[in-house]
Amino acid sequence: VIEILIRLGDRRYPVRVGHGLAGSLPSLLPGLKGKSLVVVSSHRIWSIHGGLVERGLRELGPLSRVLIPDGEIHKSALTLGKLYSAFLEKGLARDGVVVAFGGGVVGDVTGFAAATYMRGVALVQLPTTLLAMVDSAIGGKVGVNHPKAKNLVGAFHQPVAVIVDPSFLATLPPRQIQSGLYEVLKCGVIGDRRLFSALSNLPSDFRSWSSLEAPIAAACRLKARVVEKDERESGVRRVLNLGHTVGHALEAVTRYRRFTHGEAVGWGMLASASIARHRGMLSQTNFEAITTGVDRVGPRPGVDDIDPEAVLDAVANDKKKKDGRVSFVLPTAIGRVAIRPDVTRAEILAALKVLASWVMLPPGRLPGAASKGPSGREVDSRPRRKRSIEARR
Ligand SMILES: NC(=O)c1ccc[n+]([C@@H]2O[C@H](COP(=O)([O-])OP(=O)(O)OC[C@H]3O[C@@H](n4cnc5c(N)ncnc54)[C@H](O)[C@@H]3O)[C@@H](O)[C@H]2O)c1
Ligand SMILES: [Zn+2]
Repeated sequence: VIEILIRLGDRRYPVRVGHGLAGSLPSLLPGLKGKSLVVVSSHRIWSIHGGLVERGLRELGPLSRVLIPDGEIHKSALTLGKLYSAFLEKGLARDGVVVAFGGGVVGDVTGFAAATYMRGVALVQLPTTLLAMVDSAIGGKVGVNHPKAKNLVGAFHQPVAVIVDPSFLATLPPRQIQSGLYEVLKCGVIGDRRLFSALSNLPSDFRSWSSLEAPIAAACRLKARVVEKDERESGVRRVLNLGHTVGHALEAVTRYRRFTHGEAVGWGMLASASIARHRGMLSQTNFEAITTGVDRVGPRPGVDDIDPEAVLDAVANDKKKKDGRVSFVLPTAIGRVAIRPDVTRAEILAALKVLASWVMLPPGRLPGAASKGPSGREVDSRPRRKRSIEARR
């Protein structure tokens, strides 16, 4: 078992990572003994993995179960209302505990219900997607969408424990694993060289769940260190948004239908790397290492038919903008990033042109090491690889 402590004063909590941990919930959560528990999950996740979790939680205390529908559109005020009613009906009190068992959707809406029901009850995160394991279950951000804006309504509510059992990933569709891997890679680029190269050295079947324990733990560690320094995202926590400025814009202009979140972040990382390269903040070698790393996780649906002006408008509308200028996280090396508040429309447009002419190879067919490229400040934006896959889904 790998244990990572999130040190936030009296709200400190452990993240435990290990295969099969879901089979030992009573010994992992001794503080919950005798408390009344409500587990929230989705129909789909519960039907696959509910039995094991139910047995473990029942040993701890009286257990009730609430199942919510699957999908991002259910990360809503409507679901929230249903959760409050269910909590009330099950007799959940201030000293009860809510267990969020599922992906980021279940974790975010359940977490927000726990943050606000009776002004806050204890929360345990038991993530079942790779994205939730390395990102959404850690750090305390919880919330729901508004019909007109994603994640508009939310709070910070740290869990009392996070249990990460990568065995759950055995049933996760490959595209969802891939989506999470882009976020793991992002953690490597932000602050963990070793994680970055470990991902490049994973066997070509790295989507299989058995090799993911160490990278997951490394990504959790990176997020933990950042959250400890800046719990409420007023400063350094923004580094976690690497790839997200353009990524969110791509998701928005395609109405959240074309890309998984991770795929959009993959494109966004390429855009950031390209801007950093143009500014001379990133060497050609490191630029190519990042692009190769991103493409190894791929394939991703393409961006060549997307109107760059629409992307630029979506970037400008992003709630993260300050005083009309767009703040960007830019990689300066593998494992190092800088936040720049002054990225211009022209720079973003140039990066989008690079993305539009991007050509991907299927995973396993990419050069292992960064090939020698032209040095200097110019980024070669011509297609460098033969188009051999059309990944639109
Ligand atoms: N709170 C944060 O800090 C934070 C960070 C990143 C993302 N998020 C949020 O996370 C959400 C996305 O989460 P997600 O990518 O986990 O998607 P998701 O929760 O929608 O899960 C994806 C799909 O996989 C299914 N599934 C989950 N676990 C499974 C398993 N083990 N086997 C088979 N199927 C399984 C789900 O039923 C669902 O259909 C977004 O709403 C995003 O805003 C939050
Ligand atoms: Zn993300």
